[in-house]
Amino acid sequence: MARILDGKVIAAAVKQDLAMEIAQLREKEVQPKLVVVLVGDDAASASYVRSKERMARELGLEAEVIKLSADVSESELMRQIELQNADDSVDAVLVQLPLPEHIDTDWVLMGVDPTKDVDGFHPQNIGRYAIGSPLVWPCTTAGILEILERANAPVAGQTAVVVGRSRIVGWPTAQLLLAHNATVVQCHRQTRNLAEFTRQADILVVAAGQAGLIRADDVKAGAVVIDVGINRVDGHLVGDVDFDSVVQKAGAITPVPGGVGPLTVAMLMKNTVRLARIRRL
Ligand code: GUN
Repeated sequence: MARILDGKVIAAAVKQDLAMEIAQLREKEVQPKLVVVLVGDDAASASYVRSKERMARELGLEAEVIKLSADVSESELMRQIELQNADDSVDAVLVQLPLPEHIDTDWVLMGVDPTKDVDGFHPQNIGRYAIGSPLVWPCTTAGILEILERANAPVAGQTAVVVGRSRIVGWPTAQLLLAHNATVVQCHRQTRNLAEFTRQADILVVAAGQAGLIRADDVKAGAVVIDVGINRVDGHLVGDVDFDSVVQKAGAITPVPGGVGPLTVAMLMKNTVRLARIRRL
């Protein structure tokens, strides 16, 4: 049976370390501040934003949510972001995705000051993935590294296979693993014979958004399997990995829920503190 990598336990450890760091920063009169821009009233986005706000407060970070209506113009959204860019008390700006259809997401993300880009989605930070040193890695990607490190799973020299190439998870995660000297294969929707690749993975990261995509036959015995999928099936949350079969074969596995998810918000807090340190110390 695989070791279960419990995201709640790891997130609690991250939060404990962060609370100490934030207290030390306060002694230096640094009060990190995060601003979240939420457009529209998508229920899932609103719920994510609430949990971001809650954790920030819990840790002693300042947090503000700017709510804009679903029909806000692109120029008004940009104006709000520019106000945050210009506000010296703000260290971190996050534009909650997805944005409404009428808004050009790439253009908006380019409007965030790259030194306040807490998601690591600005092209300047994306460009820095190429040299392995963005100011911050995107939160989910950073959470995956945190899980691997705290599980003492080696990365350098391992064969890592990432299924999915999204801006938010798949692509940056492949870049991070490469920066940590794994041999990386990036698979996606058009990959032929997916299992041929996934079966070679010492580290398998699955972020495809397809329940049951990866089964025991697709996994190498002893592999570390990180499941980033969140799918609702018959009212239950499940990942992209068929947990019940893969847990019998993998060496370690993250459950859904309770694996990568709890880390994502904690890493947003860690990124906020990091940007505050870079800007203020
Ligand atoms: N929506 C889903 N995940 C994310 C994320 O990591 N950052 C932002 N800004 N929006 C998201």
